Amino acid sequence: MKKYKKDFSNKDFADYYIKRHKKIIEKLGYDYAKKLASMGFKRGKILDAGCGFGGMDIVLVKRIPGCEIIGIDLSDPLLEYANSCVSNTNLENRLKFKKCDVRNIPFKDNTFDVVFSVNMFHSVNEPIIMLNEIERVLKPNGYLFIKDLRRSWFGILESEVKSAFTLNEAKKLIEQSKLKKGTFSKSILWWNFEICQM
Ligand SMILES: C[S@@+](CC[C@H](N)C(=O)[O-])C[C@H]1O[C@@H](n2cnc3c(N)ncnc32)[C@H](O)[C@@H]1O
Repeated sequence: MKKYKKDFSNKDFADYYIKRHKKIIEKLGYDYAKKLASMGFKRGKILDAGCGFGGMDIVLVKRIPGCEIIGIDLSDPLLEYANSCVSNTNLENRLKFKKCDVRNIPFKDNTFDVVFSVNMFHSVNEPIIMLNEIERVLKPNGYLFIKDLRRSWFGILESEVKSAFTLNEAKKLIEQSKLKKGTFSKSILWWNFEICQM
């Protein structure tokens, strides 16, 4: 397997990342669309903080016709790919990708009904600053879904898992932020933090 420098601004690494993660990220899009539907969410504004190549958002925007999604990220090659998937399609009006930092989100307080941060908590420097920004832009009754890889024995096989947080480490950081109380859970690969009153 060819080795790439793990740098999302590097086009070769970004292409490798997309190829390797497309299916799993799209599957997360289907799962979240189902979850939002079961909660009765039909319309509103969604922010994907650290959207990468936008694979999850493309599924969500197709599945929830009343929603509008903004994906933000700092990676030029991933954003370029994301934009190429929606430009000149009928999704363009409801799904936009912007280059910006999740630690300085360029939207007013209480803008979003739903915020996602998926598979990126371990990538961001100063995650507490990101969490406080998410809290600021999320509406008071909004839904929040944070999901990230969970460091475990599986890290022996997978370097991305090795660089991730354990659930307890993530919990400590989240509890230091301004986010409201939510629910923590874990599976073999992931930990989750969710604020969603069902
Ligand atoms: C592992 S990728 C996950 C991307 C996407 N959520 C997915 O599941 O495919 C981590 C992403 O976090 C982004 N990222 C890291 N720090 C960031 C920051 N401060 N602001 C915005 N995006 C950031 C990277 O550019 C990269 O696209």
